[in-house]
Amino acid sequence: MADNYLENKFEELRDRAKRPAPRKANTLDTLLARNRSYRGYDKKVVVGMSTLEKIVAVNTKIPSARNQQVLRFKLVTRDSGADNVLANIKMGGALPELHLPFEGTEPEAYIIVCSTEPESKLVDIDLGIAAQSMLLKAVDLGLNGLMIGAFNKSAITEAFALKYEPLLILAIGKGAETIRLTEIREGESHRYYRENDVHYVPKVALADLLL
Ligand SMILES: Cc1cc2nc3c(=O)[nH]c(=O)nc-3n(C[C@H](O)[C@H](O)[C@H](O)COP(=O)(O)O)c2cc1C
Repeated sequence: MADNYLENKFEELRDRAKRPAPRKANTLDTLLARNRSYRGYDKKVVVGMSTLEKIVAVNTKIPSARNQQVLRFKLVTRDSGADNVLANIKMGGALPELHLPFEGTEPEAYIIVCSTEPESKLVDIDLGIAAQSMLLKAVDLGLNGLMIGAFNKSAITEAFALKYEPLLILAIGKGAETIRLTEIREGESHRYYRENDVHYVPKVALADLLL
C-alpha cells in the first residue's frame, strides 16, 4: 500500500514535469500592449475558420447601442478568398514608400464586418467596440491583427456577394513585426514610423489626455 502510494506519487510528479507549463493568464494590460496593428504576418501560422469563429464569438458578449446588434461577419481564409481581400485593401497609409505588406508576409485570414443597418453614429460605436473586442480575443489566442478601413467597398461587396454594407475589415494572423510604443506630448507628431526594422507607434501621454 505504502509502496504503491509512493510509486503513484512519483509517477504523478514525473508526468507533471513532462507537461508544458500552463500559459500565464493574460491581463488586460498585457492584451492591450500586445494588441498592436500588424502589417506583416508569419504565413507558417495558418488561421482557419474555427479560429475566426472563436474571435467573432466575442460579439455574443459585448455592449450594443439599444442592443440592436446589427453587425454581421463574413469570414475569409486562405482557401476562401484571402487573395481577393488582399487585392482590395490598403495598409500603412503613412508609409506609402514601403508598399506594405512585404511580399511573403501578407495576411491570409480576414473578418469582414458588415451592418444590416445604414452606417450611423451608433452603428460606428458598436463597430469600434466589436473590432477592438475581436482583436483582443485574437491576442488572447496568441494571434494578432489589424483594423482596415481603407478598402474598396464595391469590389469587396461584389467579390463576396455581401448582402450588407461592409464597414471594416480585420486581418488576423501571427504578427511577424517588431512594434514599440513611444510616448509623445500633445502637439508632437502622431505619425507611426520605422527605424532599423522596428515599427514605432507614438501615443499621447496620459497627462495630456486628461482635461
Ligand atoms: C478604424 C480604424 C481603421 C484603420 N484602418 C487602417 C487601414 O486601412 N490600414 C492600415 O494599415 N491601418 C489601419 N488602422 C490601424 C491604425 O493605423 C493603427 O491603429 C495606428 O497606427 C496605431 O497603431 P496601433 O494600433 O498599433 O496602436 C486603422 C485603425 C482603426 C482604429
